[in-house]
Amino acid sequence: MVIENDRLLRALRLEPNDRPPVWLMRQAGRYLPEYRKVRAQAGSFMDLCRNAELASEVAMQPLRRYPLDASILFSDILTIPDAMGLGLQFLSGEGPVFERPIKTLKAIESLPLPDVDQELGYVTDVLRAMRMRIGDKLPIIGFSGSPWTLACYMLEGRGTRDFSTARSWLWREPRGLQLLLDKLSTSITDYLAAQADAGADVLMLFDTWGGLLSEAHYQIFSLQPMKTIIEQLRSRHNCTLPVILFSKGCHTQISDMLKSGCAGVGVDWRIDINAALKQTRGKAALQGNLDPTVLLADADSIQTTVRTQFAEAVGQTGFIFNLGHGIMPEASPEGVTVLLEALHSMSG
Ligand code: CP3
Repeated sequence: MVIENDRLLRALRLEPNDRPPVWLMRQAGRYLPEYRKVRAQAGSFMDLCRNAELASEVAMQPLRRYPLDASILFSDILTIPDAMGLGLQFLSGEGPVFERPIKTLKAIESLPLPDVDQELGYVTDVLRAMRMRIGDKLPIIGFSGSPWTLACYMLEGRGTRDFSTARSWLWREPRGLQLLLDKLSTSITDYLAAQADAGADVLMLFDTWGGLLSEAHYQIFSLQPMKTIIEQLRSRHNCTLPVILFSKGCHTQISDMLKSGCAGVGVDWRIDINAALKQTRGKAALQGNLDPTVLLADADSIQTTVRTQFAEAVGQTGFIFNLGHGIMPEASPEGVTVLLEALHSMSG
């Protein structure tokens, strides 16, 4: 399918654009009153993810409000561990919790690989429903959590500040951890290939917890499995879609990420965007990296921050504007309007 607004695809191919493509991580979510309404109607967050009509509706909501250049699948990264039988729940105020976290090597050895069509078909149903609504207007980004980030939640059982239980496997049982990452890599590859078949135009790996690792461990336990996924997508599934890697807290390792076969690298707000662009220029697109907390500030601060931090970046080939992490539930929808107006006023 030829996509009408192809700024994101052009950026990922390192082709020039009239202005940088822009989308926002978590662009569909609780900061929007219309999201909260549909979410209440659906029941739980996972009920929303399993309802193709409502999930595709909330994916459209930010596109109606704002001039964004991409849509993103509405789902969550924890769908795979849930399909592996860990029993995912979202408790209010607590975030995700697994009823049956992984505690032993034996549990890893007997962990089943889910049948993607059977058990994760509800995700590709959402993608197809989104495509029906979007037509050929905008690209759709499919995604998965990275093996390391999914392993963090599966071994820890819930989100914690430092994932110390999960990280203790690095020292106590590295081979067990490796087996878990291998199983996850296989499932994630199949899951992303199914998303490609269902109409995704771009794939993204969210490695939210890569930054918890030492540089040496990052290479082995986070980056290498993501590299394997990209290789397997190409070889096993004949899937040539561009892949964006986002390892939060890992901007010191951009040069190694560029060797993974990815088309784009995402960075959080800790690195100066111009310094990051210098490293990726001519090799991959760069996505980021406005600190999402600026959306908690007044319009003037948002405007000034965007204008100063991105003055040079907006003219660069391969630059994709985004936040450095997901938009916060407390962000104001009007702040997003200010942000996009400031950004668009800077080019042409
Ligand atoms: O970007 C988008 O609009 C697409 C949808 C999307 C969601 N989660 C929806 C969601 C994406 C891409 C994710 C990825 C995700 N999920 C990540 C990686 C990116 C990141 O933020 O680091 C992680 C770590 C998760 C796990 C997760 N899901 C957590 C920790 C939470 C609870 C914390 C929170 O923000 O509430 C969720 C729930 C979740 N995922 C919500 C949404 C819209 C809020 C659920 C609700 O409506 O109650």
